[in-house]
Amino acid sequence: MSCLGWLKRRSRSGGSSSGKRAASAPVSGPATATTASAVSTSRSDDSGSGAVRPASKSTGSAASSRSISSLYEERGHGQLRVFDYEELQGATGDFGRAQKLGEGGFGSVYKGFVRAPDGKGDRVPVAVKKLNQRSLQGHKQWLAEVQFLGVLEHPNLVKLLGYCAVDSERGAQRLLVYEFMPNKSLEDHLFRRANPPLSWNRRLQVILGAAEGLAYLHEGVEIQVIYRDFKTSNVLLDKDFRAKLSDFGLAREGPTGANTHVSTAVVGTHGYAAPEYMDTGHLTAKSDVWSFGVVLYEILTGRRSLDRNRPAGEQKLLEWVVQFPPDSRNFRMIMDPRLRGEYSVKVAREIAKLADRCLLKNAKERPNMSEVVEVLRRAVHSHAEPDGRAPNAKGKRADGAARP
Ligand SMILES: Nc1ncnc2c1ncn2[C@@H]1O[C@H](COP(=O)(O)OP(=O)(O)OP(=O)(O)O)[C@@H](O)[C@H]1O
Ligand SMILES: [Mg+2]
Repeated sequence: MSCLGWLKRRSRSGGSSSGKRAASAPVSGPATATTASAVSTSRSDDSGSGAVRPASKSTGSAASSRSISSLYEERGHGQLRVFDYEELQGATGDFGRAQKLGEGGFGSVYKGFVRAPDGKGDRVPVAVKKLNQRSLQGHKQWLAEVQFLGVLEHPNLVKLLGYCAVDSERGAQRLLVYEFMPNKSLEDHLFRRANPPLSWNRRLQVILGAAEGLAYLHEGVEIQVIYRDFKTSNVLLDKDFRAKLSDFGLAREGPTGANTHVSTAVVGTHGYAAPEYMDTGHLTAKSDVWSFGVVLYEILTGRRSLDRNRPAGEQKLLEWVVQFPPDSRNFRMIMDPRLRGEYSVKVAREIAKLADRCLLKNAKERPNMSEVVEVLRRAVHSHAEPDGRAPNAKGKRADGAARP
């Protein structure tokens, strides 16, 4: 498939908004009211064909004839609250700057407070995403998010509380209301100097949680879900720094039956998308595994996958780290200096090896997310044991490697 759609660019080094996207696909059916019927409109393929095109035969994957929209009709429907536009306007200080939490490619996110549907009890904090009115993609992302998060449920996925859809003479408004995540995103903690650095232990816990969320999407639901936008800004952190995947606007149902992949226009974010997906538009769960490998290296190094502010040879993280293989003497050169040496070199090497497997060119050779979870669980466990630690009081290293 030659259709290259749109990819998000992350050009900044510190801000929270992602780059611009060029809308190339038509928007699916119209939403007309602030009712659930706005959600039950069927979604079209990214390519605009309206159908998922099977390509070649294989052993298949999570075989199911169910679709996310039918699951949503069945059980997602009643779970979500339908908000009035005025209620969300009031809750967020009329979407004021002071309430703004961040801005992404599809719109801005604001902090607000809402009451329970019965109007009783204290107001609870929420995050309200207001999709850009001008974006042709807006309705489609909104619909995907409502349908996927209306059906999916896991401790490592952000909870969607409800939505708002209004079409008036002043234009269409699409909003999403999520539980509020007080510790923002993994991106904020890894790359923003204003935040204290994330400890090694916390990094491992966060990435394990994110892996469990992805494994659930790939292997734990009746239909396989391909996330398609795994990156640090989409890993939100709750009050206990538990990872919660957010942003299901680009999620897709995986291939069913005998199909190996689904064909789509290429969407996602530069620096995270798998090469075979970029080249062909053929999407499999292993595309998410690649993105996960990229984030593993970001966690180890504290560097962005693409950073134009670095010297020429260091701008592309994957090209830079390849010079420091996990078993080499100079491997530690890649480690995030903000960790101040407080990490297990042994575990860091294991994680780099895992990342290298996730980043194998041949997608089929990459591990499944359940295998990734197992490796990370062992790493977290070994880190808790004394001989898994890096420098001890005498400066010796647990893996026995000599200091350079
Ligand atoms: N539920 C939430 N609770 C608290 N903060 C949130 C929540 N959802 C999003 N945010 C904040 O809003 C920011 C913007 O989110 P958004 O998903 O719109 O953009 P992004 O992830 O940076 O880019 P993209 O549009 O490519 O996903 C996030 O980085 C995060 O800091
Ligand atoms: Mg996001």
